[in-house]
Amino acid sequence: MTEPVLEVTDLTKRFERKGHADVVAVDGVGFCIQAGECVGLVGGSGSGKSTVAQMITRLIDPTSGRIVLCGRDVTHVHGAQLRAMAKDVQMVFQNPVSSFDPRHTLGEGVAESMRNMGVCKAEARNRACELLEQCGLTASMAGRYPHEVSGGQCQRAAIARALAPDAPLVVCDEATSALDVTVQAQIVRLLSQIQRDRGLAMLFICHDLALVQGFCDRVLVMQEGRIVEEGVASEVLAHPRHPYTRQLLDSAVLA
Ligand SMILES: Nc1ncnc2c1ncn2[C@@H]1O[C@H](COP(=O)(O)OP(=O)(O)O)[C@@H](O)[C@H]1O
Ligand SMILES: [Mg+2]
Repeated sequence: MTEPVLEVTDLTKRFERKGHADVVAVDGVGFCIQAGECVGLVGGSGSGKSTVAQMITRLIDPTSGRIVLCGRDVTHVHGAQLRAMAKDVQMVFQNPVSSFDPRHTLGEGVAESMRNMGVCKAEARNRACELLEQCGLTASMAGRYPHEVSGGQCQRAAIARALAPDAPLVVCDEATSALDVTVQAQIVRLLSQIQRDRGLAMLFICHDLALVQGFCDRVLVMQEGRIVEEGVASEVLAHPRHPYTRQLLDSAVLA
């Protein structure tokens, strides 16, 4: 079997809080993502999904466990090695407007990650326009500022930015949750198409189990820092075994 793009073993995050008991946000989580595979990570608010995403992308340090990305142990990397992780993993966040620097145009935002990797200015600018077009925007959008476009357009630009370094893994943390339902469906379609066309490994995090249907190959269900159920997405949705998964499905129906 080929080596997975991401391998997470026994990952734990304990937050220490002054004057309060520690919070174990993630408690012994383990999973793999293969190249070309889309994995959904679902769970209610506070179940630890974002903490998992932030550890994988090393925005925060794990308390214990191991993260192997593209065959490299990145659990404790820092400095230049941490910055070099940008070519292996990219992230799409919930709030696209605040994920861009308000002083820079969307085109500059997309080009910046390529500039950081040594691509010359003119080429980065051209590539940025191409990527924006691939994400369903016109090249003229490159000259707009984040606050001048809609939330959906800004999220398309954020996806273009995540694609710029050609990383094999993209982590989407509630990438559609801040958008209204119609736009949400358009962004899910775009992500799905990009994931398939590019053969990306993707971790698609959301609190809505129904949203992963027809999009993710596998799903991991998280409750209170632990994975309580996992399997082929269509099977988990059709025959949920854990009571928490059933609860998530019921609440999605009611929502
Ligand atoms: N920086 C932090 N300090 C203390 N507790 C935190 C911090 N970040 C997250 N938590 C706690 O960890 C738990 C999981 O949070 P999070 O990963 O954001 O959940 P989710 O993304 O599933 O909503 C929550 O109880 C949250 O309050
Ligand atoms: Mg979250």
